[in-house]
Amino acid sequence: MSLTSRISEVRTSFYRDLEGLRKDLNSIEKIRVKYLGKKGCLQTLFREIPQLKLEERREAGKLLNELKTEITGKLSSLREEILRKAGKERVFDYTLPPLKPDIGRLHPVSLTMREIIKIFREIGFSVEFGPEVESDYNNFQALNFPDDHPARDMQDTFYISDTVLLRTHTSPIQIRVMKSKEPPIRILAPGRVFRNEAINARSYCVFHQIEGLYVDKGVTFSELKGVLEYFAYRFFGGDVKLRFRPSFFPFTEPSAEVDISCFICGGKGCRVCKGTGWLEILGCGMVDPNVLSEVGIDPEEYSGYAFGMGPERIAMLKYGIDDIRLFYECDVRFCRQFY
Ligand code: DAH
Repeated sequence: MSLTSRISEVRTSFYRDLEGLRKDLNSIEKIRVKYLGKKGCLQTLFREIPQLKLEERREAGKLLNELKTEITGKLSSLREEILRKAGKERVFDYTLPPLKPDIGRLHPVSLTMREIIKIFREIGFSVEFGPEVESDYNNFQALNFPDDHPARDMQDTFYISDTVLLRTHTSPIQIRVMKSKEPPIRILAPGRVFRNEAINARSYCVFHQIEGLYVDKGVTFSELKGVLEYFAYRFFGGDVKLRFRPSFFPFTEPSAEVDISCFICGGKGCRVCKGTGWLEILGCGMVDPNVLSEVGIDPEEYSGYAFGMGPERIAMLKYGIDDIRLFYECDVRFCRQFY
């Protein structure tokens, strides 16, 4: 039988196969393999072309290619029809590689807090928590804030009633711990704090703090310096230097703010440290005797140091983040970058 008539036989057989076909993607795929596959009917015929006489080759080649286009077109329109009918039903392509399940990551603030806590835990600090809804007494009064202190202003503090508020810092946890435990006390107190501030790139109405407190007999400012230097060495790396600037907090005396030498430019001055060579990382001081008396610890017998730092600020420095609001927008593209 001539190649031409066998081509037309394949065509007839193709349409016969289509008549009895179940209209699903698998059956269509089987037909495709039968006619267009590597070992399919058409390939077998293509392979015979070189044996034909020169004059017949061109004609046979043309006919075969036409049939191939015809079958390809027919099958793809059948496939489309099936998909269209499936409508909103999901068409599952079993040949696709599986999607990776997206597991959660730690938020950059959590990461930073865990790292800080780990360092202090290793040198004997335990972790304490306190409530976010606090009394005015624990948040201000017991911490030696005078009644007319500006931080008590409604402008800065979210009051729930005259005597209840959202804590504005983690320092009230100091009061709770000192009232419930005997010295020696060596704790770290992480948590969320709230301030009624204008929201911008540098401040947000909610953020985190980590409070540190050590009370015992004979605790000195030089121990405070030693511990903070050790922390900076572990967290920021061996080359950073610390600078203590005199400052004021109602609950510590003396008080200081601590800067580290800028780890970006090494102290020469850059955009991150605004040309100063220094970055402020925390506030600290010796627990004010008034605070110790208030919680029933004798300031003649005991002394203590305290410090407070903001993990957002520290994470911003460490990761070069220039807008605090990014932490709270929960854009996964932001959060995925740190872990
Ligand atoms: N509570 C202070 C604030 O929110 C931070 C702070 C400063 C905490 C000095 C301390 C400290 O324990 O000693 O700004």
